[in-house]
Amino acid sequence: MKVTKQELKELIKTKLHRAGLQEHHADGVADVLVHADARGVHSHGAMRVEYYAERIAKGGINTNPNFQFEKTGPSTAVFDGDNGVGHVVAKEAMDEAIHMAKANGIAAVGVRRMSHSGALSYFVQQAAEQDLIGISVCQSDPMVVPFGGAEPYYGTNPIAFAVQGKNNEIITMDMATTVQAWGKILHARSKQETIPDSWAVDKEGMPTTDPFSVNALLPIAGPKGYGLMMMVDILSGILLGLPFGRNVSSMYEDLTAYRNLGQLHIVINPAFFTGLDGFKDSLTASMEDLNNITPAPGFDKVYYPGQRSAIREKNSEENGIEIVDEIYEYLVSDVVHNNAYDHKDPFAK
Ligand code: NAI
Repeated sequence: MKVTKQELKELIKTKLHRAGLQEHHADGVADVLVHADARGVHSHGAMRVEYYAERIAKGGINTNPNFQFEKTGPSTAVFDGDNGVGHVVAKEAMDEAIHMAKANGIAAVGVRRMSHSGALSYFVQQAAEQDLIGISVCQSDPMVVPFGGAEPYYGTNPIAFAVQGKNNEIITMDMATTVQAWGKILHARSKQETIPDSWAVDKEGMPTTDPFSVNALLPIAGPKGYGLMMMVDILSGILLGLPFGRNVSSMYEDLTAYRNLGQLHIVINPAFFTGLDGFKDSLTASMEDLNNITPAPGFDKVYYPGQRSAIREKNSEENGIEIVDEIYEYLVSDVVHNNAYDHKDPFAK
């Protein structure tokens, strides 16, 4: 069914506040989730609310965190989120990185001790909207077989990048280092759809099309994606003194425990490298070049990364956001959560 952005945001905010989040934190999370749904990234939108609500209600997210920001060098800092809700922690840490990069040309802010932060596009776009280049990577719970392995070790460890052209159009590359994010499997489950056999493997390590038979995900491009997810684990885990690899906390194992996750924001100020106007002119020229490439058979057009999501986002302003009926019914109900996620095997049916 279709809902307006405003209605969806209000419903999410109300539910998370009822679960125990402070109102302004609930508002911050709702903003990130609606951003994802509006851009068509439903895997990281409203469908996650019930999981977050259960974790908040059971104490697995600190609802009264004491954020600590420590500058560790001219361009480096550590933001300790005190296991507050990840979306708000990541957003505030990005605000600090933006501030530092404006003054110093570059900033790397390590974000320690946070919960799941959702779609990384939100945070890198914060930087892009300020004429900076935003880069962000984060850990996620182990559910991917390393290349050549038969058991999960890494998470879906996403990488995001955003930069703005001269007409405020934003390139947003934001991707899990798996063929698909785990949320896409959850989305397929919620819609009772099959998945392509290139996304995941079953208990025997064989490719599967049944989202309910998935036992581990596959990295993008074999050993290359495996290398990228390792890089993300080092930058957002080992570099920040946090658990890494198979020791990264599980999304569902114990909803009463803090997750202690890590994320790294890197912000580059183009004005410290070249003239900003020329940089933005060239970016826009590059985007136009891509859009003018002759499309291959079966394609209507070549899009730059994030362009189709930006079109969907604009469209959602006028026509609302499509969300699954059961999710809407949960959001408008009085139920905070249905005890559906705690100690759940993520791969269980
Ligand atoms: P996706 O597969 O939907 O898109 C990946 C990239 O491909 C995007 O940059 C998109 O703009 C681009 N793209 C897609 N179709 C295109 C086309 N026709 N032309 C040009 N570019 C195109 O993204 P994925 O990997 O499913 O990730 C979804 C979300 O999940 C992301 O927001 C990511 O940050 C989030 N995520 C978050 C995690 C966390 O722990 N916080 C873990 C894993 C993913």
